[in-house]
Amino acid sequence: MNTINTIHNFRTWRKEITGSLGFVPTMGSLHDGHLSLVAEANKLCTHTVVSIYLNPAQFTPDEDLATYPQNLKHDLKVLSQFQINTIFIPTDSEMYPRGYSTYMQETQLSTVLEGRSRPLFFQGVATVVAKFFNIVRPTHAFFGEKDAQQCLVIEKMVSDLNIRTGILKVPTVRDADGLAVSSRNLNLSKSERDSATIIYKSLFLARKLHSEGIKNANFIKKAMSELIRSVPFTKQDYISISEPSNLKELDLIECDALVSVAVFVGKTRLIDNIYLNSTD
Ligand code: PAF
Repeated sequence: MNTINTIHNFRTWRKEITGSLGFVPTMGSLHDGHLSLVAEANKLCTHTVVSIYLNPAQFTPDEDLATYPQNLKHDLKVLSQFQINTIFIPTDSEMYPRGYSTYMQETQLSTVLEGRSRPLFFQGVATVVAKFFNIVRPTHAFFGEKDAQQCLVIEKMVSDLNIRTGILKVPTVRDADGLAVSSRNLNLSKSERDSATIIYKSLFLARKLHSEGIKNANFIKKAMSELIRSVPFTKQDYISISEPSNLKELDLIECDALVSVAVFVGKTRLIDNIYLNSTD
């Protein structure tokens, strides 16, 4: 497995590569969700590149950059099971050298949900992903559906800026009890981990109510909220039921809908979502 730390060396390596190149950007602390993206890239592309970079630009000073789990040794070990051509691990000074001053901003989809709660998040994500796309020049890039809004913002950026990378979305990987796998789950205590299962249960409740014929989004959100509140350590940030393509909040669920939640479990903020289909 080839590990590269500089943009210059990456570009030298990239020059020799022909055929499709699948790119999996990560912030490290790899879990089964990341590995499902890598497996998909392996399946669809001739070459696979994974980046490991904890991007400071997508965190405000009061967020969890300092406590975000990092474990490079573990990451390299789990990646060794796959066919990876290159792991790109740039430093902060490579990505944001002194005097860096250019940021990418999607201006619609990124103003709601995560964007409202985390003001720098999508600007930081769009900036680093655009930089990676310029450096890696992937034919395809793989993102997890757990970050549904991130997928939408990146798809919009790619379309608006005529970037030639195909964006592929991979379904959320869940633990046996339904909790979506996330690097941040490592920061949960045992009892917080138990409480965190309420996130999936609340999404499941939304699906159940919807399948019973309830179309009133506020009714469903209220039921989810009460369920989340019923377990210790949880504090709801938002519950949203929106149109999947534009994240417009729905009053009545008449077609497909995206149910998204953000919940603090102790100090750890977790997000998850499911789709409701009109055929459910
Ligand atoms: O989803 C993530 O882990 C990050 O937001 C990403 C896409 C790697 C950008 O830093």
